[in-house]
Amino acid sequence: MSIELFRNDNHAVLMFTDLVEEDGQAVQSNQFLIVDHGVGAIIDPGGNLAYNELFVTISRFFPPQSLSYLIASHADPDIIAALDRWMTSTRAKLVISRIWERFAPHFTKAGKTEGRVIGVPDAGGCLQLGENELWLLPAHFMHSEGNFHFWDPVSRILFTGDLGVSLMSGAEAARPVTDLSGHIARMEGFHRRYMVSNKILRLWVRMARQLPIRMIVPQHGAPIEGKHAIHDFFEWIENLMCGVDLFDDRAYQLPTGVVDGQQNRVKPLLRAVG
Ligand SMILES: [Fe+2]
Ligand SMILES: [Fe+2]
Repeated sequence: MSIELFRNDNHAVLMFTDLVEEDGQAVQSNQFLIVDHGVGAIIDPGGNLAYNELFVTISRFFPPQSLSYLIASHADPDIIAALDRWMTSTRAKLVISRIWERFAPHFTKAGKTEGRVIGVPDAGGCLQLGENELWLLPAHFMHSEGNFHFWDPVSRILFTGDLGVSLMSGAEAARPVTDLSGHIARMEGFHRRYMVSNKILRLWVRMARQLPIRMIVPQHGAPIEGKHAIHDFFEWIENLMCGVDLFDDRAYQLPTGVVDGQQNRVKPLLRAVG
């Protein structure tokens, strides 16, 4: 399903929510196509599960061979595991944090990324896209060490990668959330474990509040739309304890269970280790 998040004569933002088969094994994920004055980029193209469907689907809107950029918020498998195929089928350049610049080529055959990786420094920057700019905003440790969010000043959409994620089906993800009550329960567990620390969340909120955001669009689950929902999201996230805030000595003990590969679970250990 393709969802038009924004369109005017020269600028379009499309979201795809259900290209990965929902068999319960892989987390639902969103991919994005942004086109300005005939120049196109994909944000967080995804892995091998999304590649074929995404390539065919975007062909209806934009010739994939003409894509200028593959823009990656970070280097996780659901973001760029299909990099080899994108590098083969397009002439696009990969835009990714400088700290992943020399790790990303491990996703491809030798030489495929030569001269085609734009390593973004920690401070971010504005990337020319058509006649407008896409802002590459620092979002390090949310959750990845080298992480960027993307601000599109034309549509006033903030693409937040793994921040604002909610766990749901592709069909549900297609419907923006305008009231956060009830939705926080679908975000909480993920953010407590995948975000690194409350300090980082507070610093990010301080930066993000300066932008006139119409919609926050995560890479999993539904967009958060409108003044009230975005205000409530900021309030929630800046007060959330997560990651290292919640880990103490109890989390770092020698194992007391045995991994049962047959049943994919951990059982109590019956004998002492060593
Ligand atoms: Fe991730
Ligand atoms: Fe993700």
